[in-house]
Amino acid sequence: MPPEESSTATDDPAAALSARLVDSLQQSIREAGGFLPFVEYMDRALYAPGLGYYVNGAHKLGAGGDFVTAPEISPLFGETLAAWLAPVLAEDLDGEGMILEFGGGTGRLAGDVLATLRELEVPWSGYRILEVSPDLRERQREHLREVLPAEEFARVAWLDALPQEPWRGVVLANEVLDALPVELFCWRDGDAAQVGVTEDAQGGLSLAERAAPEPLRSAVRDLHARCGPWPEGYTSEWRPALAPWLAAVAERLERGVVVAVDYGFPRDAYYAAERHQGTLVGYHRQQMVLDPLTRPGLMDLTASVDFTAVAEAADAAGLEVAVYAAQGEFLLAAGLPARFDARVGDATDAEATLRTAQAVRMLTLPGEMGERFQVMALTRDCPSLPRAAIPDRRGRL
Ligand SMILES: C[S@@+](CC[C@H](N)C(=O)[O-])C[C@H]1O[C@@H](n2cnc3c(N)ncnc32)[C@H](O)[C@@H]1O
Repeated sequence: MPPEESSTATDDPAAALSARLVDSLQQSIREAGGFLPFVEYMDRALYAPGLGYYVNGAHKLGAGGDFVTAPEISPLFGETLAAWLAPVLAEDLDGEGMILEFGGGTGRLAGDVLATLRELEVPWSGYRILEVSPDLRERQREHLREVLPAEEFARVAWLDALPQEPWRGVVLANEVLDALPVELFCWRDGDAAQVGVTEDAQGGLSLAERAAPEPLRSAVRDLHARCGPWPEGYTSEWRPALAPWLAAVAERLERGVVVAVDYGFPRDAYYAAERHQGTLVGYHRQQMVLDPLTRPGLMDLTASVDFTAVAEAADAAGLEVAVYAAQGEFLLAAGLPARFDARVGDATDAEATLRTAQAVRMLTLPGEMGERFQVMALTRDCPSLPRAAIPDRRGRL
């Protein structure tokens, strides 16, 4: 596909899709009196039926896609996670736990987790994937049909919504919370301003500000009281959908653990005065794009996760914050080195060994994904979760 810059909406289906999304956004801006809060723009740019980034069929993951995630880098990620969770499935959930994965990507994490549970002979009752993207669902289905024994594949199913009945099990969300839409705010004249999208004189989209309405204003003033002072014009994000997401997940989870892995920080670090431009970015073909209004519908939009907010939401939902660690130290303590040894121990293929070692470096080194990505495990009645060896960063939340 030629780059969008050199194509027009008429000869490039992707550009045409984006143009339709922009039309519909402009109409919404007019209907809303000239200003669409950024949180609504992000929601539409990612999820507008048929047009948003996650639902329009754009190629997102892996080679040629927009981003590469930990399960794509190495199966050791999913293997380590599964082996660490095995005691919960085997003991706390008596081999009858269900696994619910949010946003399954290409299906690799599911394949690696289930291969490891098979190897460890840990039973599970079902694997569910709650996926908003129709094309990624198809990729997950194809991948899992290929790698799983038929009997296991028959126990995988895709969901449109959370289970309605009470259930027990394990929730996995790797790089999903960062996609939940954010309010963009600005600290202006000692108070909170809401950033939104308007139509510019050329008929395009541009960012604008207005006085923040509630509940954004209170949220930003609280953040400022805790993390300020901030310089004039300080810009950052607040994610209103986070607490409702966790409350909904926790509501029917009778017993089990929710594992969220994502790039993020404790609140003090997220909203430090030095981070005055926030964390919101776009990704297009593995390039970071700073202007969030670039290529609506064709670019992923993402912002870091405030893990203090996740912990507060967990507390409100009656879950215990059992583990909070940086991804690198978590993987190393949760058994990745032994899994690495097992994988390359008697390998004669030096190139494959080198590739695996490089992947481990990428997953664990502080300058790669090791520090920027964090792991949080939230439990309800799971004494078997192995936590003693995991470095404990909960004090930083
Ligand atoms: C960055 S990818 C991560 C994929 C996979 N977890 C991995 O680590 O490779 C984000 C995934 O979440 C899905 N997704 C995005 N927003 C979602 C939402 N609100 N609910 C459930 N899934 C979502 C995407 O379609 C995609 O599968």
